[in-house]
Amino acid sequence: MSSVAIIGAGPCGTAQLRAFASARKNGAEIPEIVCYEKQEDWGGLWNYTWRTGLDEYGEPVHGSMYRYLWSNGPKECLEFADYTFEEHFGRPIASYPPRAVLADYIKGRVENAGVRDWVKFRTVVSNVSYSADTGLFTVTVKDLPKNQVSSREFDNVVVANGHFSTPNVPQFEGFESFNGRVLHAHDFRDAVEFKDQDILIIGTSYSAEDIGSQCHKYGCKSVTVSYRTAPMGFHWPDSWQELPLLTKVVNKTAHFKDGSTKEVDAIILCTGYLHHFPFMPDSLRLSTTNRLWPSDLYKGVVWERNPKVMYLGMQDQFYTFNMFDAQAWYARDVIMGKIEAPSYEEMTRHSAKWRAREETLQDDEQMIWFQGDYTKELIDETDYPTFDVEGVNKTFMQWEHHKHDDIMGFRNNAYRSLMTGNKQPVHHTPWMDAMDDSMESYLQES
Ligand SMILES: Cc1cc2nc3c(=O)[nH]c(=O)nc-3n(C[C@H](O)[C@H](O)[C@H](O)COP(=O)(O)OP(=O)(O)OC[C@H]3O[C@@H](n4cnc5c(N)ncnc54)[C@H](O)[C@@H]3O)c2cc1C
Ligand SMILES: NC(=O)c1ccc[n+]([C@@H]2O[C@H](COP(=O)([O-])OP(=O)(O)OC[C@H]3O[C@@H](n4cnc5c(N)ncnc54)[C@H](OP(=O)(O)O)[C@@H]3O)[C@@H](O)[C@H]2O)c1
Repeated sequence: MSSVAIIGAGPCGTAQLRAFASARKNGAEIPEIVCYEKQEDWGGLWNYTWRTGLDEYGEPVHGSMYRYLWSNGPKECLEFADYTFEEHFGRPIASYPPRAVLADYIKGRVENAGVRDWVKFRTVVSNVSYSADTGLFTVTVKDLPKNQVSSREFDNVVVANGHFSTPNVPQFEGFESFNGRVLHAHDFRDAVEFKDQDILIIGTSYSAEDIGSQCHKYGCKSVTVSYRTAPMGFHWPDSWQELPLLTKVVNKTAHFKDGSTKEVDAIILCTGYLHHFPFMPDSLRLSTTNRLWPSDLYKGVVWERNPKVMYLGMQDQFYTFNMFDAQAWYARDVIMGKIEAPSYEEMTRHSAKWRAREETLQDDEQMIWFQGDYTKELIDETDYPTFDVEGVNKTFMQWEHHKHDDIMGFRNNAYRSLMTGNKQPVHHTPWMDAMDDSMESYLQES
């Protein structure tokens, strides 16, 4: 029997488990699956941890999520096609769930698939090598509680360790003598820490927008956002301003490119993450920035120089859970020989077309249609349940408009499920007033 190593049991790794479980349910003979997960539970980033820096075993803490994090996009856009929110929660629920609700949903699906014993928890992958002679991979892992290192061979490797965990940390002049806290978004945990403070945020993407909003919601005095390329341009509250890039910090005074200054108490670097695969050899290691079409992956999944290696979820993400599923189902079918990867030349030709289109994209709306088309291409090639991708794109468009109308209130909207067709209810409390992010509170009837 052939064997597959899956690295990571976050939404991507669990999608891969579910894909194989689904093939087994349909009567296929599937390979032996071993999934290595360094945390004590599956769910990836959706598991909250108070820890930052290193964990109790000296491994880098994976978690980048924080208290009070709510979905930043409608759940209708990420819903699994083979396991709806209504199936999991027994009824329609509001559209922007907090972290705990989404964690419950992700875990519920994979619990139902009966595959927990495929996962070796608290086991970190430290090395992968490939032998051209045997055609096998050797995967070296450490059982963290037992402090035991072991290796075994596999026919295929699926890399699903996520790429929003290793922070990108630029240096600015004066940080070393700044009289306040400097941290990266990866280490941000609780907005209450910044109550009554003037905070400076560097970066203009989702972390900047959401961490700034959290701090505002939980009582910081002011938010200054410093941009490298362009301001976000939402209708921010009066206590916000967007300024060009930080040039230096002198004591507590931040200086910006346009000559303006601002006294700040804390600096939060929302400067994104690095794709980081310390366990992969040079010949198999993906190297990319956070973009919609990383190079070297046929169909965004298959490592072109060795199609026995798959990478899941390595794109910048508008689509998430259902795109990960589309990828996992595709990877499964390549591994099981149901889909044959074409020649290297054919794969790179195909990828070059997607890359060329990616480079023409001008705005978020075009990027969403691009990622929708990509997801659809994969779904059309496997037995993953087909769904209304165009409807998802249109829901994303509504979301974009709602954000531009009211950046502090967009989460008060509700949308129609593209999987069940049912309109979802509006949440019982406006987001700005909803301080309790527990599942119990969210699921209360209005
Ligand atoms: C702050 C933040 C908020 C987000 N909010 C949203 C949101 O609202 N909606 C949305 O759809 N998406 C959101 N995302 C995007 C997020 O990337 C996806 O939702 C999803 O978690 C990606 O799944 P993944 O499996 O690729 O990676 P991850 O969730 O990162 O899971 C990877 C897993 O691999 C494990 N792992 C890592 N290295 C090793 C190793 N060497 N050996 C063994 N195991 C390893 C980790 O422990 C982890 O469990 C957010 C991301 C961040 C950072
Ligand atoms: N649920 C939620 O509410 C939530 C909250 C936070 C994050 N997320 C998710 O987390 C993921 C990561 O988002 P992210 O915002 O952390 O990363 P990101 O989307 O990759 O954005 C990185 C940002 O950092 C800026 N940057 C990078 N290097 C810089 C430098 N040297 N100087 C100044 N600016 C620099 C970039 O600016 P340029 O534009 O100039 O390149 C960009 O604005 C996304 O999938 C997002 O959806 C979700």
